[in-house]
Amino acid sequence: MEHSSYLEWSRAWMGRLDPADGKALAGRAPELAERLRAGVAAGEMPFLNMPYRARLEAALPPLLERLKPFRHMLVLGIGGSALGARAMQRAFAPGQDGPGYAGPWLWIADNVCAEQFEALLGKLKPEETVVVCISKSGGTIETLAQYFLVRAWLEKALGDAWPGHMVVVTDERKGYLRQEAAARSLDALEVPDYLGGRYSALSAVGLLPAGFIGIDWRALLDGAASVARPLLDDPANIARHPAFSLACWARALEERDYSQLIFFCYIPQWAAYGQWFAQLWAESLGKDGKGSLPVPATGVTDQHSVNQMFLDGPRNKGCLFLTGGQPRSGRLFGQDLPDQWAWLRGKAFDSLLDAEALGTRMALCKSGVPLVHVHMGNLREHAAGSLMMLLEAATIFTGWLMGINPVDQPAVELGKRIANTRLGATGYVQEAADLGAFLAVPEERQAF
Ligand code: PA5
Repeated sequence: MEHSSYLEWSRAWMGRLDPADGKALAGRAPELAERLRAGVAAGEMPFLNMPYRARLEAALPPLLERLKPFRHMLVLGIGGSALGARAMQRAFAPGQDGPGYAGPWLWIADNVCAEQFEALLGKLKPEETVVVCISKSGGTIETLAQYFLVRAWLEKALGDAWPGHMVVVTDERKGYLRQEAAARSLDALEVPDYLGGRYSALSAVGLLPAGFIGIDWRALLDGAASVARPLLDDPANIARHPAFSLACWARALEERDYSQLIFFCYIPQWAAYGQWFAQLWAESLGKDGKGSLPVPATGVTDQHSVNQMFLDGPRNKGCLFLTGGQPRSGRLFGQDLPDQWAWLRGKAFDSLLDAEALGTRMALCKSGVPLVHVHMGNLREHAAGSLMMLLEAATIFTGWLMGINPVDQPAVELGKRIANTRLGATGYVQEAADLGAFLAVPEERQAF
């Protein structure tokens, strides 16, 4: 691999975990290799071999060039259509939240809070803003609701010129957004077939917003490709691949009743990868009464929050512990520090982060939390792409070991159908009946 990131396993098989479980799971490598070979051949694993890359590399640069005059990009999307872009923004273009920043700005609207939405539309100037509506299905109610309101906002201000301020990222052929793009001659990029939302960050879904704010999106793709390559060169390499090692460990945890997986990120600027990972893991693996709940946490902040529970709460947690090798940066403490802090004199501010990461990692291990240390050799885009691919592949392989389908999300569909029914959508006969029965149960309120 083209970087010096690594997984460190010396404290992984602890507590109730038995290395023999790992060996038994590792023995399933040939079966998974065959599945991998067939999946790639059938075109069903585009997150891994990225067959869309050439098309993206052709379409994205001219579009980014056209969008350069805009000061603001407003992304409308939710779940997998939003979280990757946010993680990349926070990791590689954090300036927006700091003083003195001069743009370009990326805003990601991934909720239906009228007040927050108003705060955005009330402040953004339509003539300076390009809106990117991202939805693989092209029919997600939250995203479409925002689209209708933003379209009206643009149209009111810009008249016939509004389509030049709207880009859609959606399925190549199907869905309302695709029809809308065709009917209104909107710029449109594809979400390739079989690339589900939570596996799509390294397509136009995440890379159009990333490119707009100057993130090296090609390096993200290169980093991802470097991790996928051994699996694509020969699926039998899965037996030695770190994604498969992680999958065996995660499955072993789950089999031994470790029901939570902490994602403890000691790279503060990468903290939003915790939310990205949580969605990837939870929506992929929470099936048939199985799975482990992802718990994102950020070092050092969460040492003063949830860490007590990690250390001395129920013994039901494993931990992915993320650190980064970064060139020393930050201010040095002066020689004039008071005597009781003398040991800090001359040290760099960021030496605290390293020391506290070590302290917390050791404390977790001493508490018996099975822990895999994920160390990133550097914190550039290439490394982030490699981490994303590693975690996506590990998620898929864990799902295969669990015997569930890691690329669907059937359970969350019910809530969506009920919400649509509540809003007056027709055709949901069973949901309407169920909703009536649910609301008929007398409430038992207790004021406070
Ligand atoms: O990961 C997933 O598949 C989901 O979280 C989707 O990304 C989310 O539901 C949004 O779907 P869509 O992109 O179709 O609007």
